[in-house]
Amino acid sequence: MAAMLPGVAAAMACYSEQGQPSLRDALLSLRGGPYDAILVVPLVLPLEPSFLNWITRSLKRWQSEHPGRWPPVRISRDIAQSLHFEPLLGALINGAAAEPAVPPDDHVKLEGSLVPAQKRRVLVCEGGACNAAGAHAIWGHLRNLQESRKLRMTGEGTMTAKATCLGPCNLAPVLQVYPEGTYYGGVTETAVDRIVEEHLLGGSVVHDFAYEPTGRKQRLRPVINSSSSKGE
Ligand code: FES
Repeated sequence: MAAMLPGVAAAMACYSEQGQPSLRDALLSLRGGPYDAILVVPLVLPLEPSFLNWITRSLKRWQSEHPGRWPPVRISRDIAQSLHFEPLLGALINGAAAEPAVPPDDHVKLEGSLVPAQKRRVLVCEGGACNAAGAHAIWGHLRNLQESRKLRMTGEGTMTAKATCLGPCNLAPVLQVYPEGTYYGGVTETAVDRIVEEHLLGGSVVHDFAYEPTGRKQRLRPVINSSSSKGE
């Protein structure tokens, strides 16, 4: 429908968290096109300021990891602030009131569960500092890889989970890989690719992004991004 609006040459729906295409994939596929601008319209409620900060920071990172021709990218503000939001909400409420009621089910069966055999677990920090630094994108990218690489069943088997603050907030975004308990900081999508390949499947810690408990405060180290040109 958006593609039919005047002045819109193409429109894509994408996911900011798990799901494909991700926002990053969508932007990378559009950036080489003959467009005057790319407009990002977050259909998210409530739209937290940290979410807009995250999109802005992630966009800058993706632009530097994938240099080349980028049309100007503009991001719309909170849809709840739009003059058209109230009538839209009213129409949705009226639409729901006109739907048939969901009937109760008196015969709901208690289902059993398989206890997973996986030995590895990745915790993705979703504390405040990590969310502001792009943990949503890291989580979504990891979950997409878990699906496409069948990580639950491959190698030693990997489960993923979101966590509250894991501790080293100044190294955000942070994730931790078990059973070793290895901390990774300054994690990007490229870092996740390497952690999956080298650590989860290969069994080797990715030292470019790993941080050991030293008993002293540590800062993020600059990382040479050797795979920035992949897929260009
Ligand atoms: S918020 Fe992620 S480590 Fe503290």
